[in-house]
Amino acid sequence: AATLPYPSTPVTKAQALKAGTPVTFNYPDASSPCTLLKMGEPVIGGVGPDKDIVAYSTLCTHMGCPLAYDAKQARFKCGCHFSMFDPSKGGQMIIGQATENLPQIELEYDEKNDMVRAVAVNGLIYGRQANLL
Ligand code: FES
Repeated sequence: AATLPYPSTPVTKAQALKAGTPVTFNYPDASSPCTLLKMGEPVIGGVGPDKDIVAYSTLCTHMGCPLAYDAKQARFKCGCHFSMFDPSKGGQMIIGQATENLPQIELEYDEKNDMVRAVAVNGLIYGRQANLL
């Protein structure tokens, strides 16, 4: 089967980011909420000048509830059944009912204009049979 190409979507300038302050966006389409984070230290899949910018789908992999980012603990938390995910470890599930890690949004950083772009999704977004509809 032919696979659709992912869109390349500008999200933010790296300079505009503050460590611990999340930026929400949608990717690869309007019905898929995501959050981009500057972690403050290099992390798995991190891009940008400090290799610390990552992004994830924020639909819980258990039953699709929206996740909230807890900056103090640097974790995504689900209010429905209390799953927690670690954005500095590739979206790994730390605890809870979910069985899948969070889908990580693949990012690219363009030094010329300081732009961080979303370019793909690693992992299946909750409730979908394919990430691209
Ligand atoms: Fe998130 Fe159940 S929907 S833990």
